[in-house]
Amino acid sequence: MKTVFINGSPKKKLSASGYFLDVQCFFTRGNKVKENLRNKSDHERILNTIADADTVVFCLPLYVDGVPSHVLSFMKEMELFCTERKLQLNVYVISNSGFIEGNQSRVLFQVFENFCKRSGVHWCGGIGVGGGVMLNVLRIVFLIQIGILLLNFVLSGVHNGNWLPIDALINFATQALMIIFFNLGVFWYTFRMGMAIKKGNSCGKKYTRIMIPSFVFILFADIFFIIISLFQGGIFRGWLSKK
Ligand SMILES: Cc1cc2nc3c(=O)[nH]c(=O)nc-3n(C[C@H](O)[C@H](O)[C@H](O)COP(=O)(O)O)c2cc1C
Repeated sequence: MKTVFINGSPKKKLSASGYFLDVQCFFTRGNKVKENLRNKSDHERILNTIADADTVVFCLPLYVDGVPSHVLSFMKEMELFCTERKLQLNVYVISNSGFIEGNQSRVLFQVFENFCKRSGVHWCGGIGVGGGVMLNVLRIVFLIQIGILLLNFVLSGVHNGNWLPIDALINFATQALMIIFFNLGVFWYTFRMGMAIKKGNSCGKKYTRIMIPSFVFILFADIFFIIISLFQGGIFRGWLSKK
């Protein structure tokens, strides 16, 4: 069984869609192919990849309560491609938004449902993830924490001869558990989508979010966006990308 995962974020690196795609990929069995859809030059390659696929999973950001325009233009071509070849695909969607409410993605799901009807493929449901930016930042923070933990091991080993500092380990484990907790909704629904993909069933429309109270989210989102505005919009990505 072949599943094609399409990352619909225009970002080259460290996109939230890429993160959710990796999580979904982890929970999906069978032959898995990942594709990036950023512009027109990707269309032909992706269409050829889905020609012999059983399932397509779109992971994409929510733009202005809808589908990003570069994904829409791909969907137009895919509609023709599927109808001409009478493809029997199962289509799933994972949409992530900046706002905390996962149900911001409901209009986007409607667009995909209509697209599936017109293309003659099977709409199998989706997951709307609220607070996608924050969950993505947390996974980057998690990677940094792993780096800090390893550095702690080395420093403690070199200075005190203790290569396994328990304090650092407990600190890391606490923070890792918190990040896992914030992601619980995403893990649960992607696990269920993985089961649905395996059986070829619909997983329905599910909405989840980062697992923190909204008033805490707003506070941290405000601080975060003030800081990234000082870095002209790209705090992690901006540092890593070529200027
Ligand atoms: C042009 C644009 C429009 C957006 N519109 C919305 C929106 O309507 N609602 C929302 O919650 N987030 C909105 N966002 C935020 C993105 O959905 C959010 O940053 C997402 O995590 C980006 O995913 P990515 O890293 O995979 O590209 C918008 C972002 C951009 C750049």
